Amino acid sequence: MCGIVGYVGSSKSVEVLLGGLRRLEYRGYDSAGIAVIDDAGLMNTRKRAGKLQVLVDELDRSPLGNGGTGIGHTRWATHGGPNDANAHPHLGDDGKLALIHNGIIENFAELKAELLASHPDTVFTSETDTEVAAILVGIEYQRTGDLAEALRQVVSRLHGAFTLLAMHQDAPGVVVGARRNSPLVIGLGDGENFLGSDVAAFVEHTRRAVAVGQDQIVTIGADSVSVTDFDGIPVEVTEFEVSWDASAAEKGGWSSFMAKEISEEPEAIAKTLLGRVVDGGIKLSELDGIGDDALLAINRVVILGCGTAAYSGMLGKYAIEKWARIPVDVELSHEFRYRDPVIDGNTLVVSISQSGETMDTLMAVKYAIEAGARTLSICNTQGATIARESDAVIYTHAGPEVAVASTKAFVAQVAALYLFGLHLARVRGTLSSPEIAGLAAELQALPDQLAIVLEQHDAIKQLAGWMTDTRSVLFLGRHAGYPVALEGALKLKELAYIHAEGFAAGELKHGPIALIEAGQPVFVIVPSPRAKDSLHKKVVSNIQEIRARGARILAIAEQGDAAVLPYADVVIPIPLASTLFEPLLAVAPLQIFAMELASAKGLDVDQPRNLAKSVTVE
Ligand code: M6R
Repeated sequence: MCGIVGYVGSSKSVEVLLGGLRRLEYRGYDSAGIAVIDDAGLMNTRKRAGKLQVLVDELDRSPLGNGGTGIGHTRWATHGGPNDANAHPHLGDDGKLALIHNGIIENFAELKAELLASHPDTVFTSETDTEVAAILVGIEYQRTGDLAEALRQVVSRLHGAFTLLAMHQDAPGVVVGARRNSPLVIGLGDGENFLGSDVAAFVEHTRRAVAVGQDQIVTIGADSVSVTDFDGIPVEVTEFEVSWDASAAEKGGWSSFMAKEISEEPEAIAKTLLGRVVDGGIKLSELDGIGDDALLAINRVVILGCGTAAYSGMLGKYAIEKWARIPVDVELSHEFRYRDPVIDGNTLVVSISQSGETMDTLMAVKYAIEAGARTLSICNTQGATIARESDAVIYTHAGPEVAVASTKAFVAQVAALYLFGLHLARVRGTLSSPEIAGLAAELQALPDQLAIVLEQHDAIKQLAGWMTDTRSVLFLGRHAGYPVALEGALKLKELAYIHAEGFAAGELKHGPIALIEAGQPVFVIVPSPRAKDSLHKKVVSNIQEIRARGARILAIAEQGDAAVLPYADVVIPIPLASTLFEPLLAVAPLQIFAMELASAKGLDVDQPRNLAKSVTVE
C-alpha cells in the first residue's frame, strides 16, 4: 500500500525522488519521507506526517544537499499511526543506513525481541515493523560490508510481504532492493537507474523497465543493474517498454485525476477492444498460453477480485454463463482461499485487478495455482505480479488510473471479460459466428454511447450539489443492474463518506424496504424496456413500491422511457443498450455523482481518507 522509489545517477536525487513520490502518492498518503546521501557524503533523511506536500514544504524551507543517490517513501500506515516518527525511511547502523518498506513483516515482534536480547542497547524510535528490518540490515552491513549481502541475510529471516529498499552512506552510488509478495520495478536509464513500486515512479525519465521477480534482490548503480535470487544466484531479467508516457499520468487540466479518468472511459473501452475484434470475430492471442483444448476441458470458472474489480466480475459471470453456458462463481479474493474451496485442474480461475498487485487477489491466485487450476488474469498494469503469476493475461488498456476510486478500469475490465466470454462461447460452440459478431458490434458501439452519457456531467453535478446534506443513499438494480448498484454505493461511501447501500431490487421486499422513509433518496438502474429479456416492468414495479413509501427516485433509464417518468423525481437518460451492455453506460453517472457530491463537500476525491490505491497487505 506504500509507494517506494529509489534513484542512483547524476541528477539531483531530491527532485527525482519527489517527482516519483508525487506519481506514487495514490498508493498511500499518511506520511512521506526521503533519504539522500548529501554533498558531504552523509546520510540525510527528512520525513513528515501528512500528504507529500507537507514534506515538500519542509524541504523548501530547509533544503537537503543533493547527492545522486536516494530513496523515497509515501506511506499507508499498518504498524504504528501516521506520525513523523513512524514515517519512512527508518535508520540503522547509527544513522548511516536508511531503509524503506512496503508490506508487512509479520514476525517483527519476535525479531524485535531477539534483537533486544542480542543487542540490549538498541533504541527504537518508532512503532513500525520496518525499523526492525533497518536495524537488522545495519548490523549485517557491519558484519559483511556488503549491502546486498546484508539485505539477503535479513530477508531470509522475514515472514510476510515486503519490498525493501536500502542505502548506506559508506556505499554511495548504490541502492539495493528485495521483494517478496510486494511489487518492485527497475527503470533503466542512461547513466542513471531507478527502482519503484510501479513504473509511475520513473516514467518521466525512462520507459524501459524490468519487473523484479518474487524473492529476488536487485542492486542498482548509475551504470549497473544486477539481480539475484535470495540465495545470491544471478537471475536473467526481461526488459519491457512502458506503453504510456508521463503525460498520461498527469491531470491535464482536469480538476482531479478522477474527473480525468471518468472522461477517459470511452477511450478505455475502445483501447481494450482494439485489435481484439477482427471481422466480427474475437481475437485474443493472449489466451494461446492456455489454448483451446484446455479451455474446452474446463467445467467451471471462478472469478476473483476485490471491491470494484469484484463487481466487474459479477458482470463477467452474467455474460460468460449466458454466452458460454458454463457455471461461473464470483468470489471476493480474501474470502476464497480460507474456506477450502473446491477447485481442480478443470477449473479456470479468472482474477481481476487494476493494479495487478492486490495482495488478497494475489494470494487467492497462488492458492488456485497450487490447487492445479488454470489461471487467467485481467489486469491494467503491465508486468504486475498477478499477471506474471497467471497462465495468461488479458490486459485492459485503460492507461494509468491514479485516483483511488476505480472508474475507467471498471468499464475496461467489463469489456475484457465480455471479450473473454465471447471467445469462450466460440471455443465451446455455444454461440454462432453471426451471434458473436452481433454482440461484438454492440461492444464496439459502447464508446460512442458512453461519450453521450458523459455529456450530462453538469446536470449530475447540479444534482449532487443539491444533496450535500444527504446522510444515506440507496442504490437498486436487478440482474446486470445489481453490480452497478453495488458499485454506485461503493463510490459514494469511499468518496463522500455517506452511508450508501446497493441492493438487488427484488431483495428489497425481503427486509431492506424497512429502510425507506419519506425523502430517502434511491438511485434505481432501470433496464431498457426495449431490450430482449428485460426486467423493465419488474423494476418499474419496485420503483412504485418504494415511491409509495416516500422514497425520492433518481432513475437511470433509457432515453424516452415513458414508464419511469411518472414515478421518478430525476431521470438520468442513457442510450439504448441490451441488458448486459447497459451497465457500461449506467455506471458513469453514479461515479460522477459520487465525485461531485464529495467535491461539493470539500473532500479530496483523488485521495479519500483511510484508503490507498493498491492494497498490498492482506
Ligand atoms: O487494483 P485492484 O483492482 O485489485 O483493486 C481492487 C480494489 O481495491 C479497488 O477496486 C477498490 O475497491 C477501489 N478503491 C474502488 O473504487
